[in-house]
Amino acid sequence: TGLITLDPGFGNTGACTSAITFIDGEKGILRYRGIPIEQLAENSSFTETAWLLIHGRLPQRQELDLFREQLNRHAPLHEAFKHHFEGFLVDAPPMAMLSAMINTLSCFPRRWNTATPAGPDEEFYEEAARLISKVRTIAAYSYRRSMGLPFIYPDPKLPYVANFLHMMFSMPYEQHMASPEVVEALNLILLLHADHEQNCSTSTVRVVGSSQANLFASCAAAVGALWGPLHGGANVAVLEMLSKIHHGGISADQAIKLAKDPKSGFRLMGFGHRVYKNFDPRAIILKRSADRVLSQLGVNDPLLDVARQLEEKALTDPYFVERKLYPNVDFYSGIIMRAIGIPLNMFTVIFAIGRMPGWIAQWAEQHADPKARIARPRQVYIGNTISDYVPIDDRR
Ligand code: CMC
Repeated sequence: TGLITLDPGFGNTGACTSAITFIDGEKGILRYRGIPIEQLAENSSFTETAWLLIHGRLPQRQELDLFREQLNRHAPLHEAFKHHFEGFLVDAPPMAMLSAMINTLSCFPRRWNTATPAGPDEEFYEEAARLISKVRTIAAYSYRRSMGLPFIYPDPKLPYVANFLHMMFSMPYEQHMASPEVVEALNLILLLHADHEQNCSTSTVRVVGSSQANLFASCAAAVGALWGPLHGGANVAVLEMLSKIHHGGISADQAIKLAKDPKSGFRLMGFGHRVYKNFDPRAIILKRSADRVLSQLGVNDPLLDVARQLEEKALTDPYFVERKLYPNVDFYSGIIMRAIGIPLNMFTVIFAIGRMPGWIAQWAEQHADPKARIARPRQVYIGNTISDYVPIDDRR
């Protein structure tokens, strides 16, 4: 074992080279294909940013138009999908349905495994658009199923985010029209989640994809990785924590105290990051957005006051200061999603819709990398050196 270096959680292990996303955790810098996240948040849309991540540069107007046309064309699901959804119990978690249905997409094949060592081709880009489009329909249908509501077909006249909100909230007899503020806020959340280099779910895409599993199987696995409360599930955990504090389960001071006690098993959700050690630039943008959206919509959310209190206390507490624990993207995204009427069981699903372009870009990059090898970490064995097999009647 002398040659094996233990690195639990891969905190210090680079597993690939990548030209997609740059992060400088000390300086709080995040760039997609070289473009600062602040500029994209200010000027771009989720769909344009998705194209940027997958193709490596900003699209020309006609390229973006083609992408939007593809997103519209691919939005409907094969009717057979309805039967798959019906197999789930009403109130099944949408994250479970999302993962299963993304995997199911690989049973409706076109040429999904098209990334070649020469790099992605037009058919791959079409598949990418198909997945980015269909994940939105699947997400909305998962919610409808979890509520026992009828499925609403996509409306080709609506752009990406408005179409999603239509499929989530319209009724067969009444079309839901999201306000521009709500569409803008959700667009920003999706854009800010679009990639984040080798995080847990993206590494999952690469690990699964490294066996040459197809794009859909790789992304379905990533949904499972994203689900956990230490990763994408943190946005749900933040809201649950804030509600608990607000409704008197625990006080903000108690929450801070518990979080500082390693024996409590409790963490301040929405705080801390493996890479960002001064601030999370996405959290700064979302904090501003939360203030703006809540005032635009006239929402007075006591949970935002609890969040502010917690933030203030944590940022001056030596425990959090010494460990460089700052609010991360999940701290504010939940508050915004709640304000714009997104149900709690959809928070992490929305993170998955946002992260899809990043997963696809990383899958394609890996498949085009001549140095890529199957992911196969080693271990340091600490069990018995050797023990004999004992017949069942002789065991004690
Ligand atoms: N509350 C209290 N203590 C914390 C927290 C927290 N949220 N995060 C880290 N610590 C402590 C941790 O106990 C450890 O203390 P010590 O050195 O005394 O043992 C120290 O800070 C370093 O933590 P770590 O667990 O080694 O850090 P990590 O890089 O392995 O974990 C993290 C990063 C994000 C999983 C962790 O900070 C965490 O659990 N945060 C809460 C969950 C969360 O908000 N996750 C969302 C992450 S950002 C977006 C995403 O990926 O989805």
